[in-house]
Amino acid sequence: MSDRSMESSSPNRFVNIAVLTAALGGLLYGYDTGVISGAILYLKQDLGIADNGLQQGLVTSSILIGAMIGALTGGGLADRTGRRKLTLIAAVIFAVGAIGCALSPNVTVIILFRILLGIGVGSASVVVPMYISEIAPAAVRGKYTSIYELMITVGILLAYIVDYGLSTLAAWRWMLGIALLPAVVLFIAMLTLPETPRWLVRDGRFERARQVLGKIHAEGEVERELADIRTAENRAREHSGWSVLTRPWIRPALIVGLGLTVLQQFVGINTIIYYAPTTLAKLGLGNSASILAEVGIGAVNVAFTFVAIRYMDRLGRKRLLFAGSIGMALSLFVLAVLTLIFGASGGTVGVITIVCLAAYIGSFAATWGPTVWVILPEIYPLRARGPAVGLATWGNWAANFAVSLVFPIILFTIGQGLSMLIFAIISALSLLFVSRFVPETKGRSLEQIENDLYSHVHDSPESRKISHS
Ligand code: BGC
Repeated sequence: MSDRSMESSSPNRFVNIAVLTAALGGLLYGYDTGVISGAILYLKQDLGIADNGLQQGLVTSSILIGAMIGALTGGGLADRTGRRKLTLIAAVIFAVGAIGCALSPNVTVIILFRILLGIGVGSASVVVPMYISEIAPAAVRGKYTSIYELMITVGILLAYIVDYGLSTLAAWRWMLGIALLPAVVLFIAMLTLPETPRWLVRDGRFERARQVLGKIHAEGEVERELADIRTAENRAREHSGWSVLTRPWIRPALIVGLGLTVLQQFVGINTIIYYAPTTLAKLGLGNSASILAEVGIGAVNVAFTFVAIRYMDRLGRKRLLFAGSIGMALSLFVLAVLTLIFGASGGTVGVITIVCLAAYIGSFAATWGPTVWVILPEIYPLRARGPAVGLATWGNWAANFAVSLVFPIILFTIGQGLSMLIFAIISALSLLFVSRFVPETKGRSLEQIENDLYSHVHDSPESRKISHS
């Protein structure tokens, strides 16, 4: 870890407030994606949706379609309008989406509002980690961006709890509508916060950038930080927006980003987050016991994210990813073998199954869950950050959508045991990807990481030719 980043290791109240506010976008992401698993049971009766039909699938997954749109458009918007403004726009979309879903008179309207909500979720998933990453001092950046993931897990848990609490009343409109509250809080609190210093430099507002840096860093550090950001900003001035993604020195980072986001979904996390009650009901648990067990899974998800918050800046991103790949592969492998030998059964096997499920969720939550969101805004240069993070985040949503669509079919065709085995193998392969491609970013400033990326590619003989062209 460099001396410079150590110097700025005492983040103050301003950074705490900025991080917690922006992370409300994560809470809304988690809540809005998690709430539907319980709400669907009641809204399909009210709105007359056929069981297992296309309409039901669309009500559930329309948010993912919207999120893909939001991630792609959000990347460009984050650069053009700024991180803060896009967060405000996302908050408005969250609010309108919540009201629209809650008041939907029929299935078409709810699908349209779920797509709108998805656009908010997708934009937030691009801009919130970026905002936090660009505000936080280098030495604690991992911890602070992990708080975004913590809020996602809290949002999912809250959704499970609200679903459970309101289930006896069948109050699906309240389940969906209550998300209005955090959206309003996010909007109002964000109004009081400034833009990130990086975006301000990009926008040519150096004096304002200096003021904001003054709130984050000790007095002696501000000028040096500002100078670093300006150097990075000048580097690729001639290329900005999507065209910068075609530059050879950005390519390795694109592979890392897309690989990480797609693998984060292909290890199968949302087959548990979205389908856990179904899996558990098959083990012989009753309906309400399954929903309660789901709350348990949500709690494990939250609890283990604290491990990441504690260790992200100490052990580094790569070590966490390694540990997570191993933990997920092992727990899924045992689950697969158990299911293949014993089928879905209760008793001791049922208990071991639940332990393995918890170990899998814990392994993900402490590692791949947060680390992917931490690394994304770190590995791209300032000039490319919006579109590049947008593209990688789109990959995450597209992979999420693909798994959600294909998983029920795979489950039906080859059964639970073999499906788990596939996810176990992908988890093991993710280890190879990390060791081959992912750089360690712990403790270095965003500009130092950018310098490395630039000089690494420009020093290779092959790229020397390219860079002079
Ligand atoms: C993933 C989501 C997942 C959540 C679970 C996030 O990092 O991107 O798809 O539902 O973690 O906590």
